[in-house]
Amino acid sequence: MITTDQTISTFLDFFHERGHRRTPGGSLVPPPGDPVLFTTSGMHPLTPHLSVGRHPLGRRLTGLQRCLRTTDLDEVGDSTHLTVFEMLGSWSFDDYDCPQSVRWGHELLRDGFGIEPDRLHVTVFGGDDQVPPDHESWRVWDELGIPVEPTTHENWWSNGPTGLCGPDTEIFLWTGPEKPRGTPTSDDRWVEVWNHVMMRYLRHPDGSLEPLRRPCIDTGLGVERLVRILQGMPSVFEIDVFEPWTTGLTELWGPLDEPTSRVLSDHLRSGVVILGDEVMPSPNGRGHILRRLIRRMLTTLWREDPTRTLSDLPVDLVRHTLDHFRQLRDPHRVRTVLLHEEHKFRSLLRRGEQVLSHRRFTGPLDEDDYRYLHDTHGLPRGLVEFLRTGDDVVAVRDRDID
Ligand code: ALA
Repeated sequence: MITTDQTISTFLDFFHERGHRRTPGGSLVPPPGDPVLFTTSGMHPLTPHLSVGRHPLGRRLTGLQRCLRTTDLDEVGDSTHLTVFEMLGSWSFDDYDCPQSVRWGHELLRDGFGIEPDRLHVTVFGGDDQVPPDHESWRVWDELGIPVEPTTHENWWSNGPTGLCGPDTEIFLWTGPEKPRGTPTSDDRWVEVWNHVMMRYLRHPDGSLEPLRRPCIDTGLGVERLVRILQGMPSVFEIDVFEPWTTGLTELWGPLDEPTSRVLSDHLRSGVVILGDEVMPSPNGRGHILRRLIRRMLTTLWREDPTRTLSDLPVDLVRHTLDHFRQLRDPHRVRTVLLHEEHKFRSLLRRGEQVLSHRRFTGPLDEDDYRYLHDTHGLPRGLVEFLRTGDDVVAVRDRDID
Protein backbone atom coordinates (compact mmCIF):
# COMPACT_ATOMS: atom_id res chain seq x y z
CA MET A 1 0.00 0.00 0.00
CA ILE A 2 1.43 3.38 -0.98
CA THR A 3 2.17 5.63 2.01
CA THR A 4 1.61 9.36 2.32
CA ASP A 5 5.37 9.96 2.09
CA GLN A 6 5.63 7.83 -1.05
CA THR A 7 2.69 9.69 -2.61
CA ILE A 8 4.45 12.98 -1.97
CA SER A 9 7.76 11.83 -3.43
CA THR A 10 6.07 10.26 -6.49
CA PHE A 11 4.49 13.63 -7.28
CA LEU A 12 7.62 15.69 -6.68
CA ASP A 13 9.82 13.27 -8.67
CA PHE A 14 7.38 13.29 -11.59
CA PHE A 15 7.56 17.06 -11.90
CA HIS A 16 11.29 17.15 -11.17
CA GLU A 17 11.83 14.82 -14.15
CA ARG A 18 9.89 17.33 -16.25
CA GLY A 19 12.12 20.27 -15.38
CA HIS A 20 10.40 21.61 -12.23
CA ARG A 21 12.52 22.88 -9.37
CA ARG A 22 11.42 22.41 -5.77
CA THR A 23 10.14 25.46 -3.86
CA PRO A 24 11.11 25.61 -0.18
CA GLY A 25 7.37 25.52 0.85
CA GLY A 26 6.66 25.03 4.51
CA SER A 27 5.26 27.13 7.32
CA LEU A 28 1.56 27.82 7.88
CA VAL A 29 2.57 31.38 8.76
CA PRO A 30 2.79 33.58 5.66
CA PRO A 31 5.70 36.00 5.25
CA PRO A 32 5.51 39.36 7.13
CA GLY A 33 3.29 41.92 5.45
CA ASP A 34 0.91 39.30 4.09
CA PRO A 35 -2.65 40.21 5.20
CA VAL A 36 -3.79 36.58 5.47
CA LEU A 37 -3.47 34.85 8.86
CA PHE A 38 -2.55 31.41 7.57
CA THR A 39 -1.39 29.90 4.30
CA THR A 40 -4.50 28.53 2.63
CA SER A 41 -3.10 27.09 -0.57
CA GLY A 42 0.16 25.95 -2.12
CA MET A 43 0.32 29.02 -4.35
CA HIS A 44 -0.04 31.42 -1.47
CA PRO A 45 3.68 32.03 -0.76
CA LEU A 46 4.21 32.41 -4.53
CA THR A 47 1.59 35.15 -4.97
CA PRO A 48 4.05 38.04 -5.60
CA HIS A 49 5.86 35.94 -8.21
CA LEU A 50 2.68 34.73 -9.91
CA SER A 51 1.55 38.36 -10.20
CA VAL A 52 4.58 39.19 -12.34
CA GLY A 53 4.91 35.77 -13.98
CA ARG A 54 8.51 35.29 -12.91
CA HIS A 55 10.23 33.38 -10.11
CA PRO A 56 13.93 33.49 -9.21
CA LEU A 57 14.08 29.66 -9.18
CA GLY A 58 12.89 29.33 -12.78
CA ARG A 59 9.78 28.95 -14.90
CA ARG A 60 8.74 25.49 -13.67
CA LEU A 61 8.32 24.81 -9.97
CA THR A 62 6.90 22.10 -7.76
CA GLY A 63 6.48 21.83 -4.00
CA LEU A 64 4.66 20.73 -0.88
CA GLN A 65 2.88 23.22 1.38
CA ARG A 66 0.97 22.78 4.61
CA CYS A 67 -2.27 24.77 4.59
CA LEU A 68 -4.99 25.75 7.03
CA ARG A 69 -8.55 26.63 6.09
CA THR A 70 -10.90 27.95 8.73
CA THR A 71 -13.65 28.23 6.10
CA ASP A 72 -13.90 24.44 6.18
CA LEU A 73 -14.16 24.16 9.99
CA ASP A 74 -17.83 23.23 10.02
CA GLU A 75 -17.20 20.49 7.47
CA VAL A 76 -14.43 18.82 9.45
CA GLY A 77 -15.67 15.38 10.41
CA ASP A 78 -16.98 14.41 6.97
CA SER A 79 -14.84 12.08 4.89
CA THR A 80 -12.70 14.69 3.13
CA HIS A 81 -12.24 17.95 5.08
CA LEU A 82 -9.37 18.70 7.44
CA THR A 83 -8.35 21.92 9.17
CA VAL A 84 -4.65 21.50 8.44
CA PHE A 85 -3.79 19.59 5.30
CA GLU A 86 -0.97 19.28 2.80
CA MET A 87 -1.08 20.46 -0.77
CA LEU A 88 1.25 19.38 -3.55
CA GLY A 89 1.66 21.88 -6.35
CA SER A 90 3.12 22.44 -9.79
CA TRP A 91 3.59 25.84 -11.38
CA SER A 92 4.35 27.20 -14.79
CA PHE A 93 5.51 30.81 -14.85
CA ASP A 94 4.58 31.95 -18.34
CA ASP A 95 5.97 28.64 -19.63
CA TYR A 96 3.62 25.77 -20.65
CA ASP A 97 -0.16 26.28 -20.71
CA CYS A 98 -3.12 24.32 -19.38
CA PRO A 99 -3.23 21.53 -22.03
CA GLN A 100 0.27 20.44 -20.98
CA SER A 101 -0.60 20.67 -17.30
CA VAL A 102 -3.72 18.60 -17.85
CA ARG A 103 -1.84 15.94 -19.85
CA TRP A 104 0.76 15.60 -17.11
CA GLY A 105 -1.94 15.48 -14.47
CA HIS A 106 -3.65 12.65 -16.31
CA GLU A 107 -0.37 10.79 -16.88
CA LEU A 108 0.66 11.00 -13.22
CA LEU A 109 -2.70 9.83 -11.90
CA ARG A 110 -2.91 6.95 -14.39
CA ASP A 111 0.70 5.75 -14.65
CA GLY A 112 2.25 7.13 -11.45
CA PHE A 113 -0.58 6.28 -9.07
CA GLY A 114 -2.32 3.55 -11.09
CA ILE A 115 -5.77 5.12 -11.04
CA GLU A 116 -8.20 3.52 -13.48
CA PRO A 117 -9.22 6.15 -16.06
CA ASP A 118 -12.92 5.32 -15.60
CA ARG A 119 -12.67 6.57 -12.01
CA LEU A 120 -11.86 10.08 -13.26
CA HIS A 121 -14.23 12.93 -13.99
CA VAL A 122 -13.32 16.56 -14.56
CA THR A 123 -15.05 19.91 -14.51
CA VAL A 124 -14.14 22.88 -16.68
CA PHE A 125 -15.09 26.53 -16.76
CA GLY A 126 -18.24 26.87 -18.85
CA GLY A 127 -17.94 30.64 -19.44
CA ASP A 128 -19.73 33.71 -18.10
CA ASP A 129 -20.40 37.26 -19.28
CA GLN A 130 -16.72 38.22 -18.87
CA VAL A 131 -14.72 35.16 -19.90
CA PRO A 132 -15.47 32.55 -22.60
CA PRO A 133 -15.66 28.80 -21.86
CA ASP A 134 -12.37 26.96 -21.39
CA HIS A 135 -12.46 25.09 -24.72
CA GLU A 136 -8.74 24.36 -24.55
CA SER A 137 -8.84 22.13 -21.46
CA TRP A 138 -12.18 20.70 -22.53
CA ARG A 139 -10.68 19.53 -25.83
CA VAL A 140 -7.70 17.86 -24.13
CA TRP A 141 -9.91 16.02 -21.65
CA ASP A 142 -12.11 14.90 -24.56
CA GLU A 143 -9.04 13.57 -26.37
CA LEU A 144 -8.00 11.70 -23.23
CA GLY A 145 -11.48 10.18 -22.97
CA ILE A 146 -12.28 11.70 -19.58
CA PRO A 147 -15.88 12.88 -18.99
CA VAL A 148 -16.22 16.65 -18.64
CA GLU A 149 -18.82 18.69 -16.76
CA PRO A 150 -18.85 22.46 -17.35
CA THR A 151 -19.70 24.79 -14.46
CA THR A 152 -19.38 28.52 -13.87
CA HIS A 153 -18.65 29.50 -10.28
CA GLU A 154 -17.06 26.22 -9.19
CA ASN A 155 -14.49 26.52 -11.96
CA TRP A 156 -13.33 30.04 -11.30
CA TRP A 157 -10.45 30.33 -8.88
CA SER A 158 -9.50 33.49 -7.05
CA ASN A 159 -7.20 34.36 -4.22
CA GLY A 160 -9.77 36.75 -2.72
CA PRO A 161 -12.30 39.31 -3.97
CA THR A 162 -9.53 41.12 -5.85
CA GLY A 163 -6.18 40.01 -7.23
CA LEU A 164 -5.02 36.93 -9.11
CA CYS A 165 -7.72 34.74 -10.62
CA GLY A 166 -8.73 32.66 -13.59
CA PRO A 167 -10.65 29.65 -14.86
CA ASP A 168 -9.70 26.23 -13.58
CA THR A 169 -10.25 22.60 -14.37
CA GLU A 170 -10.74 20.25 -11.43
CA ILE A 171 -10.03 16.53 -11.36
CA PHE A 172 -12.38 14.32 -9.35
CA LEU A 173 -11.90 10.68 -8.36
CA TRP A 174 -14.73 8.23 -7.78
CA THR A 175 -14.93 6.93 -4.21
CA GLY A 176 -18.08 4.81 -4.32
CA PRO A 177 -18.05 1.00 -4.07
CA GLU A 178 -19.97 0.44 -7.31
CA LYS A 179 -19.30 1.56 -10.86
CA PRO A 180 -18.85 5.35 -11.19
CA ARG A 181 -21.99 7.24 -12.04
CA GLY A 182 -23.34 10.79 -12.15
CA THR A 183 -21.17 13.87 -12.28
CA PRO A 184 -19.15 15.85 -9.71
CA THR A 185 -21.96 18.33 -9.10
CA SER A 186 -24.66 15.64 -8.84
CA ASP A 187 -22.91 12.93 -6.77
CA ASP A 188 -20.59 13.78 -3.90
CA ARG A 189 -18.84 10.43 -4.16
CA TRP A 190 -16.84 12.23 -6.82
CA VAL A 191 -14.11 13.82 -4.68
CA GLU A 192 -12.04 16.70 -5.96
CA VAL A 193 -8.33 15.97 -5.64
CA TRP A 194 -6.45 18.20 -8.07
CA ASN A 195 -7.16 21.67 -9.34
CA HIS A 196 -5.39 23.15 -12.38
CA VAL A 197 -5.81 26.92 -12.41
CA MET A 198 -5.10 29.15 -15.39
CA MET A 199 -3.91 32.24 -13.57
CA ARG A 200 -4.68 34.71 -16.33
CA TYR A 201 -6.26 37.78 -14.76
CA LEU A 202 -6.04 40.38 -12.06
CA ARG A 203 -9.41 41.39 -10.66
CA HIS A 204 -9.76 45.07 -9.76
CA PRO A 205 -12.00 46.41 -6.97
CA ASP A 206 -14.61 47.50 -9.56
CA GLY A 207 -14.90 43.85 -10.69
CA SER A 208 -13.12 44.35 -14.00
CA LEU A 209 -10.52 41.82 -15.14
CA GLU A 210 -7.10 42.80 -16.42
CA PRO A 211 -5.32 40.07 -18.42
CA LEU A 212 -1.89 39.24 -16.99
CA ARG A 213 1.03 39.96 -19.27
CA ARG A 214 2.61 36.69 -18.20
CA PRO A 215 -0.08 34.14 -17.37
CA CYS A 216 0.79 31.22 -15.10
CA ILE A 217 -0.49 27.76 -14.26
CA ASP A 218 -1.06 26.95 -10.60
CA THR A 219 -2.06 23.44 -9.63
CA GLY A 220 -2.89 22.11 -6.18
CA LEU A 221 -3.43 18.50 -5.19
CA GLY A 222 -4.89 17.61 -1.78
CA VAL A 223 -2.49 15.03 -0.37
CA GLU A 224 -4.72 13.39 2.26
CA ARG A 225 -7.65 13.14 -0.15
CA LEU A 226 -5.58 11.39 -2.79
CA VAL A 227 -3.95 9.09 -0.23
CA ARG A 228 -7.35 8.17 1.16
CA ILE A 229 -8.36 6.92 -2.30
CA LEU A 230 -5.01 5.24 -3.01
CA GLN A 231 -5.16 3.45 0.34
CA GLY A 232 -8.82 2.50 -0.25
CA MET A 233 -10.03 4.13 2.96
CA PRO A 234 -13.56 5.41 3.65
CA SER A 235 -12.24 8.76 4.88
CA VAL A 236 -9.07 10.82 5.31
CA PHE A 237 -9.13 9.88 9.00
CA GLU A 238 -8.15 6.28 8.24
CA ILE A 239 -4.99 7.03 6.22
CA ASP A 240 -1.53 6.21 7.59
CA VAL A 241 -0.74 9.66 9.02
CA PHE A 242 -4.03 9.76 10.97
CA GLU A 243 -4.04 6.18 12.15
CA PRO A 244 -1.83 6.84 15.24
CA TRP A 245 -4.22 9.63 16.29
CA THR A 246 -7.47 7.73 15.85
CA THR A 247 -6.05 4.60 17.48
CA GLY A 248 -4.23 6.53 20.21
CA LEU A 249 -7.27 8.61 21.16
CA THR A 250 -9.53 5.55 21.21
CA GLU A 251 -7.11 3.82 23.56
CA LEU A 252 -7.13 6.89 25.80
CA TRP A 253 -10.76 7.86 25.83
CA GLY A 254 -12.58 5.23 23.80
CA PRO A 255 -14.76 3.93 22.55
CA LEU A 256 -15.43 7.20 20.71
CA ASP A 257 -18.21 7.70 18.20
CA GLU A 258 -16.98 8.55 14.72
CA PRO A 259 -17.78 12.31 14.63
CA THR A 260 -16.13 12.78 18.04
CA SER A 261 -13.06 10.79 17.09
CA ARG A 262 -12.68 12.78 13.85
CA VAL A 263 -13.05 16.20 15.45
CA LEU A 264 -10.63 15.29 18.25
CA SER A 265 -8.01 13.92 15.85
CA ASP A 266 -8.33 16.80 13.42
CA HIS A 267 -8.26 19.60 15.98
CA LEU A 268 -5.55 18.12 18.17
CA ARG A 269 -3.32 17.33 15.23
CA SER A 270 -3.95 20.78 13.68
CA GLY A 271 -3.21 22.41 17.03
CA VAL A 272 0.11 20.58 17.19
CA VAL A 273 1.05 21.73 13.67
CA ILE A 274 0.12 25.35 14.40
CA LEU A 275 2.15 25.26 17.61
CA GLY A 276 4.93 23.58 15.61
CA ASP A 277 5.03 26.71 13.46
CA GLU A 278 5.67 28.80 16.60
CA VAL A 279 2.16 30.27 16.94
CA MET A 280 0.99 30.57 20.56
CA PRO A 281 -2.62 30.79 21.80
CA SER A 282 -3.76 34.41 22.22
CA PRO A 283 -6.92 36.55 22.25
CA ASN A 284 -6.52 37.62 18.62
CA GLY A 285 -5.02 36.85 15.24
CA ARG A 286 -3.44 33.47 14.56
CA GLY A 287 -3.27 32.61 18.24
CA HIS A 288 -7.02 33.14 18.48
CA ILE A 289 -7.70 30.60 15.74
CA LEU A 290 -5.47 28.16 17.60
CA ARG A 291 -7.27 28.82 20.89
CA ARG A 292 -10.66 28.32 19.22
CA LEU A 293 -9.56 25.01 17.80
CA ILE A 294 -8.30 23.82 21.16
CA ARG A 295 -11.51 24.90 22.89
CA ARG A 296 -13.74 23.22 20.34
CA MET A 297 -11.68 20.10 20.78
CA LEU A 298 -11.97 20.28 24.59
CA THR A 299 -15.72 20.81 24.67
CA THR A 300 -16.08 17.83 22.33
CA LEU A 301 -13.79 15.79 24.56
CA TRP A 302 -15.71 16.66 27.73
CA ARG A 303 -19.19 16.18 26.31
CA GLU A 304 -19.35 12.58 27.45
CA ASP A 305 -16.90 12.69 30.31
CA PRO A 306 -15.70 15.99 31.78
CA THR A 307 -12.89 14.25 33.68
CA ARG A 308 -11.02 13.49 30.46
CA THR A 309 -7.82 15.50 30.27
CA LEU A 310 -4.97 16.23 27.90
CA SER A 311 -2.60 15.29 30.73
CA ASP A 312 -3.03 11.74 29.37
CA LEU A 313 -1.97 12.68 25.84
CA PRO A 314 1.14 10.68 24.91
CA VAL A 315 4.02 12.87 23.77
CA ASP A 316 4.71 10.34 20.99
CA LEU A 317 1.55 11.40 19.17
CA VAL A 318 2.73 15.00 19.23
CA ARG A 319 6.19 13.94 18.06
CA HIS A 320 4.75 11.81 15.24
CA THR A 321 2.93 14.83 13.78
CA LEU A 322 5.80 17.28 14.23
CA ASP A 323 8.08 14.77 12.48
CA HIS A 324 5.67 14.29 9.61
CA PHE A 325 5.49 18.06 9.04
CA ARG A 326 9.29 18.36 9.42
CA GLN A 327 8.86 20.74 12.37
CA LEU A 328 11.70 21.10 14.84
CA ARG A 329 9.74 22.22 17.90
CA ASP A 330 10.17 20.23 21.11
CA PRO A 331 7.11 17.91 21.44
CA HIS A 332 7.20 18.23 25.26
CA ARG A 333 6.93 21.98 24.94
CA VAL A 334 3.98 21.69 22.52
CA ARG A 335 2.20 19.33 24.90
CA THR A 336 2.78 21.72 27.81
CA VAL A 337 1.12 24.57 25.91
CA LEU A 338 -1.89 22.36 25.22
CA LEU A 339 -2.14 21.48 28.91
CA HIS A 340 -1.88 25.10 29.90
CA GLU A 341 -4.73 26.00 27.53
CA GLU A 342 -6.84 23.21 28.97
CA HIS A 343 -6.26 24.51 32.47
CA LYS A 344 -7.16 28.04 31.45
CA PHE A 345 -10.33 26.96 29.68
CA ARG A 346 -11.48 24.81 32.59
CA SER A 347 -11.11 27.80 34.93
CA LEU A 348 -13.09 29.98 32.53
CA LEU A 349 -15.88 27.41 32.33
CA ARG A 350 -15.98 27.06 36.10
CA ARG A 351 -16.24 30.81 36.50
CA GLY A 352 -18.94 30.86 33.81
CA GLU A 353 -20.98 28.24 35.59
CA GLN A 354 -20.79 30.19 38.82
CA VAL A 355 -21.80 33.48 37.23
CA LEU A 356 -24.64 31.94 35.23
CA SER A 357 -26.11 30.24 38.28
CA HIS A 358 -27.03 33.71 39.51
CA ARG A 359 -30.78 34.37 39.37
CA ARG A 360 -30.34 37.23 36.91
CA PHE A 361 -29.15 34.77 34.24
CA THR A 362 -31.53 31.86 34.61
CA GLY A 363 -34.22 33.27 32.28
CA PRO A 364 -33.87 34.58 28.72
CA LEU A 365 -30.84 36.86 28.19
CA ASP A 366 -30.86 40.16 26.34
CA GLU A 367 -28.04 42.01 24.58
CA ASP A 368 -27.11 43.91 27.78
CA ASP A 369 -26.70 40.61 29.63
CA TYR A 370 -24.44 39.20 26.93
CA ARG A 371 -22.40 42.40 26.88
CA TYR A 372 -22.05 42.36 30.67
CA LEU A 373 -21.06 38.68 30.71
CA HIS A 374 -18.48 39.29 28.04
CA ASP A 375 -17.01 42.58 29.26
CA THR A 376 -17.09 41.90 33.00
CA HIS A 377 -16.57 38.15 33.19
CA GLY A 378 -14.78 37.39 29.91
CA LEU A 379 -17.56 35.01 28.83
CA PRO A 380 -18.26 35.13 25.09
CA ARG A 381 -21.78 34.52 23.81
CA GLY A 382 -21.00 31.09 22.34
CA LEU A 383 -19.63 29.92 25.64
CA VAL A 384 -22.63 31.29 27.54
CA GLU A 385 -24.97 29.41 25.17
CA PHE A 386 -22.93 26.30 25.61
CA LEU A 387 -23.06 26.53 29.40
CA ARG A 388 -26.78 27.28 29.46
CA THR A 389 -28.02 24.77 26.89
CA GLY A 390 -25.19 22.23 26.54
CA ASP A 391 -25.57 22.72 22.77
CA ASP A 392 -23.22 20.63 20.72
CA VAL A 393 -20.34 23.03 20.54
CA VAL A 394 -19.19 21.63 17.21
CA ALA A 395 -22.40 22.91 15.69
CA VAL A 396 -22.03 26.33 17.26
CA ARG A 397 -20.65 28.92 14.88
CA ASP A 398 -16.89 28.96 15.20
CA ARG A 399 -16.65 32.69 15.74
CA ASP A 400 -18.53 32.24 19.00
CA ILE A 401 -16.17 29.80 20.66
CA ASP A 402 -13.83 32.46 22.01
N1 ALA B 1 -4.58 27.35 -5.83
C1 ALA B 1 -5.44 26.31 -6.28
C2 ALA B 1 -6.27 25.73 -5.17
O1 ALA B 1 -6.02 26.00 -4.02
C3 ALA B 1 -4.67 25.26 -6.99
O2 ALA B 1 -7.19 24.99 -5.44
